[in-house]
Amino acid sequence: MAIVGKDIGKAKEILDNSDLVAIPTETVYGLAGNALDSKAVARIFEVKERPYFDPLIVHFAGISKIKKYVKRFPALAEDLAKKFWPGPLTMILEKKEAIPDLVTSGLNTVAVRVPNHPLTQKLLKSLDFPLAAPSANPFGYISPTEAFHVQAQLGEKIDYVLDGGACQVGIESTIVGFDEEKLLVYRLGGVTMEELRHFTDNIEMIEPSGHKYVAPGMLGSHYSPTTPIVLGDIPRLFEEYQGKNIGVLSFEKRYFHDLAHQFILSESGDLPEAAANLFSALRKLDALKLDLIMAEKVPDHGLGRAINDRLKRAAAKTINV
Ligand code: TXA
Ligand code: MG
Repeated sequence: MAIVGKDIGKAKEILDNSDLVAIPTETVYGLAGNALDSKAVARIFEVKERPYFDPLIVHFAGISKIKKYVKRFPALAEDLAKKFWPGPLTMILEKKEAIPDLVTSGLNTVAVRVPNHPLTQKLLKSLDFPLAAPSANPFGYISPTEAFHVQAQLGEKIDYVLDGGACQVGIESTIVGFDEEKLLVYRLGGVTMEELRHFTDNIEMIEPSGHKYVAPGMLGSHYSPTTPIVLGDIPRLFEEYQGKNIGVLSFEKRYFHDLAHQFILSESGDLPEAAANLFSALRKLDALKLDLIMAEKVPDHGLGRAINDRLKRAAAKTINV
């Protein structure tokens, strides 16, 4: 099993040696390796069982370190960086040679981000290279928001999990790209649409269907528990699936007094709190080996849009209950 600890020196030693370390970020835990070393990058794909056509995000200590790896840094990207970095925003920019093709799945763009977590910031500052890191979960499963989530799933395959506690945002970064003056949104996450609109009205949401490039984070079914999950009106679903062993994931309401397995994302109806609890609650429900998880959408604004996106994808598998 991996060692779980807070030793940055140990993490650095492993990474310097082309091996992998799970790192905390404010969004979710990442499975990190030297982004400039194809051997370390290949190992990330292998450990995560991730298809090679799904490119990785590269993490840097700060914007000044990014510039030598990208061809251009558009003015809008500068503005966004000033506002949101370090933080839950990933930007897709034209890459230079030094970033291996394996990181970007052969694309001529690279996804870059400056994460906001004190341990990972210190670690990045101590390294001579940036860190390629996808979320530290097996491909397609729920992203980890605690060190023990990583240990439970990837502990056999890696040596060290840097324990930075529970992730404060709890949902992945928002991914944006640039097309002339237009801002392309590939994935909604910790930065909301409303926050992006302060910078420009010229925003296009990239929908999976019909687009020439689809980020696998945008795949219909992703972020999903093993237990089937249905999304809808909970009291109605409850009638439909009577007699089944059921768990409930609600936004702020407790629907049943006598049902054992219910998780409320935020009793005060707070969307950031709901986002921070989402993946952890899904994992807990999944561990109960129920027949079915019933979930409801949250209000579709602010972080709620990203939460609803993850819930939809989690529920996208065909179910047979
Ligand atoms: O919050 C996060 O972003 C976390 C933490 C660890 O930083 N990382 C994360 O990585 O969620 P991952 O690999 O699970 O999701 C990254 C997404 C994938 O859907 C990938 O397809 C997309 O980023 N991506 C990466 N490079 C891209 C590129 N050049 N063009 C378009 N999409 C890209
Ligand atoms: Mg992921």
